[in-house]
Amino acid sequence: MGTAFAEIDGYVSETVYPSSYHDTLNPAWTDECLLREGVKPPRLAPGAESHPFTLLDLGCGDGLGMLLLAATHPDSHFIGVDVMPEHIDAARQSAERLGLTNATFHAIDFGQALERDDLGADYIIVQGVLSWVGATAREQLMALIGKSLRPGGVASIGYNAQPGWLGMLSFQRLLRQIALTGQGATYERFEFALEEIRRMLPLGLRSIGPEQLAMIDSHRALLPAKYFAHEYLHESWEPQWSPTVIGQAARHGLSFVRSARPERLREDFILRRAQREELAQVADPVLHELLVDHFTACSFRTDIYMKGDPVRLDEAASEAGRLARPWMRRPGREDQPFELATPAGTIRFDNPAARLVWDAMAQGPVTPGEVVAASEEFDAVDILNVLDALAMRHAVPVEPACPRRDAARIDALLDGAGGEGRLINAWMTAWGPLRQG
Ligand SMILES: C[S@@+](CC[C@H](N)C(=O)[O-])C[C@H]1O[C@@H](n2cnc3c(N)ncnc32)[C@H](O)[C@@H]1O
Repeated sequence: MGTAFAEIDGYVSETVYPSSYHDTLNPAWTDECLLREGVKPPRLAPGAESHPFTLLDLGCGDGLGMLLLAATHPDSHFIGVDVMPEHIDAARQSAERLGLTNATFHAIDFGQALERDDLGADYIIVQGVLSWVGATAREQLMALIGKSLRPGGVASIGYNAQPGWLGMLSFQRLLRQIALTGQGATYERFEFALEEIRRMLPLGLRSIGPEQLAMIDSHRALLPAKYFAHEYLHESWEPQWSPTVIGQAARHGLSFVRSARPERLREDFILRRAQREELAQVADPVLHELLVDHFTACSFRTDIYMKGDPVRLDEAASEAGRLARPWMRRPGREDQPFELATPAGTIRFDNPAARLVWDAMAQGPVTPGEVVAASEEFDAVDILNVLDALAMRHAVPVEPACPRRDAARIDALLDGAGGEGRLINAWMTAWGPLRQG
């Protein structure tokens, strides 16, 4: 019998989770996804500019990612909930250091949060929680989203998904069990277990192969050591099937709107013709999602859910909303801007419209509407089409520039003192946060 980890309802809670920013949860991206579906984003007043909103981050970790959004929207309110007091202490310290007063944090679990009436929100974000907590916490989390989301509000839920983790199931079970017999901090026990599996592999661990070790090794080159205890040591580690999540959400009054993964914007980019023809025969939207998960060996999903009936926008209003949103090049992605590797093969889109958009972004963010206005050759459809491709890797929608964001000062504070390196995988800019890597 090994020594138990410190756990909260199956969630390993001994070390703090590394600070993370996720651009698929940024309201700028969520709004873009909604407008594509002809659905009104929560903060868009009909016929007017967008208005202040409340964003709730459930399982917010150390809150730094949410705080970058709070810095981006000084007139909106941000609430972080996390069960680990260490995370919430760090979040409050970061808010103070960054000089932000529009964020509040609660060190409570989802069950306790369900008893409160002050967590109403227009946007809810939940990243990396659903597949790492036990069944009770999962049910509480979904009930909490259903209760807290205001009518017309949206929740973006990111989770490890099947079938992409099938090969890792037996690996994770063995890794966790060996780690329980190890000594030291959880991340040291993770390293110990990993080396033990590496040592035993030649003996014939029949359901584990070198590909699983190779995958972890490639992630170790990119992610901090403490991340791995959170990823692999939970008792409740259970990557989710999309129909299960969509069904559970529906029982709490939440309708699935669409995937918010950039690679799922356009199925013609990621699926072969025969796969798309097969999908065209499928009327059931949940089966459709699951089939795409299978066609792409999906391992991570970000789903957008809406409370109540979506407020529909007509085509002209949706397009106008999309044309007005600035887009920015992603730093470090200047190589091969017109080429994408997808499960369907390599897509090349080196054409005059793509070059026009890419060059227009060279000096900073630009709206598709501005590109259309400056072009005699291309219309809105051409330019938005280019952005579909650039969104997969090379560019992101951002907010209009705002001098009140104090971005340079906040960005400087994200450089860790004493050579610690960057505190988070993001830069802060006058247009909001930008993810690194
Ligand atoms: C993998 S971390 C993700 C953190 C953050 N969302 C991110 O992606 O950077 C999962 C978070 O969920 C929190 N958590 C786990 N179980 C919880 C519960 N029952 N109630 C509230 N928070 C919980 C953990 O403390 C942890 O901060």
